[in-house]
Amino acid sequence: MTVHSGRVPEFSRINSGDFAARGRPPQGAPARPDYRRSAGVLGAQEREPAVTREGRRPGARTVTTSSKKAAGQDYDAGPFVPQRGGLPTLRRAAAGCEGCPLFRDATQTVFGAGASSARIVIVGEQPGDQEDRRGEPFVGPAGRLLREALGEAGIEERSAYFTNAVKHFKFEIAARGKRRIHKAPSLREMSACRPWLAAELRKVDPELVMALGATAGKAVLGTSFKVSQQRGLLLPMPAWDALGHSDASGADGIPVREAAAHGCVVATIHPSAVLRADDREAAYRGLLSDLRVAAEVLRSGAERAAAD
Ligand code: URA
Repeated sequence: MTVHSGRVPEFSRINSGDFAARGRPPQGAPARPDYRRSAGVLGAQEREPAVTREGRRPGARTVTTSSKKAAGQDYDAGPFVPQRGGLPTLRRAAAGCEGCPLFRDATQTVFGAGASSARIVIVGEQPGDQEDRRGEPFVGPAGRLLREALGEAGIEERSAYFTNAVKHFKFEIAARGKRRIHKAPSLREMSACRPWLAAELRKVDPELVMALGATAGKAVLGTSFKVSQQRGLLLPMPAWDALGHSDASGADGIPVREAAAHGCVVATIHPSAVLRADDREAAYRGLLSDLRVAAEVLRSGAERAAAD
């Protein structure tokens, strides 16, 4: 697997002409918040033509804080997502995302890693402590467990693109000591970050999305998703533009051949839940069983492609 390594250079240009409209009226860049931690990072790392020196596309409308508030869009990564370019462009732009307040305390954005040709996109909740420090998803204990389970299920790591529903680490500092304790992202933070996930999925266009845990499931399928009820089922793949807006609550699952032909989502528990479980063995077996469902779809897809 090609994993991005090292700290991603900060990409601070916040312009608008290149940003996805996301189904709402075109809008300009958000006013650059004055809470940026370092004025030194404001020099553009990547230069593209047709951007004014103020970092805006000519004619772009600036969205002021008050107009953003009025539109209820205070938390929204959408204006930071470039419409053009591949995964490297997205990754660079994501390094400068200030679409919600989580960027302030996190070390860096942890963008997805893997090939744009990946057959499966694995979506976690948010980076953990180690991922935040290293700038790579799934490199901590939960990631190691996940990789082991993928291998056991017969899913090759190099066929996977790893990412998270939320791209910044949310934490609180332990009462005593300096340990950073994971805090679950809110629905608002998850929704704000969804444009990045949609952009990644659009670029990779996988055959299967594996959602790990409730936050990932809700990010992909919508707030009615319940991991306890829907894990291990083959759920219809949502359109990338409607990510998080399926109503999968009553879905029973689709047949393997249909899933292989049209794409599907498989949900399972988060590997951290396995690490926390009283009965780790049983929780791991459950994770493995759901991953094997995904592996079967990938096998069926490969057979279908070979027969064509
Ligand atoms: N947990 C996640 O959901 N994602 C990571 O990248 C690491 C731990």
